[in-house]
Amino acid sequence: MVKKLDDKVALITGAGSGIGRASSVLLAREGARVGVVDNVIEGAEETVRLIKNTEGEAIAIKADVSVVADVENMINTVVDAYGRLDILFNNAGISAVNRAFTAELSVEDWDTVININLRGVFLGCKFAIPHLLKNGRGSIISTSSVNGLRAATTIAPYCASKAAVINLMRTVAAEYGQQGIRANAICPGVIETGMTTDFVPFFDFNFIGQGRAGQPEEIAQTVLFLASDDSSYLTGAAIPVDGGWSAEFKIPMNLPEGF
Ligand SMILES: NC(=O)c1ccc[n+]([C@@H]2O[C@H](COP(=O)([O-])OP(=O)(O)OC[C@H]3O[C@@H](n4cnc5c(N)ncnc54)[C@H](O)[C@@H]3O)[C@@H](O)[C@H]2O)c1
Repeated sequence: MVKKLDDKVALITGAGSGIGRASSVLLAREGARVGVVDNVIEGAEETVRLIKNTEGEAIAIKADVSVVADVENMINTVVDAYGRLDILFNNAGISAVNRAFTAELSVEDWDTVININLRGVFLGCKFAIPHLLKNGRGSIISTSSVNGLRAATTIAPYCASKAAVINLMRTVAAEYGQQGIRANAICPGVIETGMTTDFVPFFDFNFIGQGRAGQPEEIAQTVLFLASDDSSYLTGAAIPVDGGWSAEFKIPMNLPEGF
């Protein structure tokens, strides 16, 4: 049976949990050999175990995406193991160190979030692009957020980093489009992962068009679409996968009955 990613090699960061794990499993099921990267190696190893259970091919790699030497090493490890790189999914991210309004944010907390969420995406691109250029094609996908499209209080570095990721993807798309590289951002809404377990029970899902949270597997389907030739003319885009949340301004009025 022909699969969508036969002969392709993918590297996915933040792949020890949530969206990264679901995407690793799906891309492997579609034939990709996957470099499963996380700074928590036990999570990455568990993802590899899930992939190998279904006879997929993957290796676990420990890397902190904000550290130059780690990122260089994670790319080289995958290329050494599988001989090439076709798909980079920059997905590792954190929401906040401590939540605070902007004037109360510490500079250290700002730097930590920006370094993982934005510098990490830049570093992934910097070290992966030379390998994609060798193939004359490739797909880079980065996880932004609805908070890259809209603001939220108490998480300024998250909002700023996720907005910057969108324009970084557009820039890469413009720079390397004629050499066969596509670059896109995904903007998830509320997805049930390790990142959201704390606040999902308190969330009012009536504010979201579809009235529910998303599952990591529903983001993985968009990752697969962007990774495969099904999206061959799609680049420089920021795609909300958010149940319609970012499509709507809720009208802040209590209208009388029957209005
Ligand atoms: N869950 C949501 O509702 C939601 C919404 C919008 C965007 N996102 C984004 O999705 C991405 C994945 O998050 P998730 O929801 O799957 O959360 P998650 O916490 O389940 O997974 C994130 C993974 O990234 C890893 N990680 C964190 N810092 C790292 C670093 N410096 N280097 C390497 N790995 C690191 C963690 O160990 C973890 O395994 C993040 O970029 C997040 O900002 C999530």
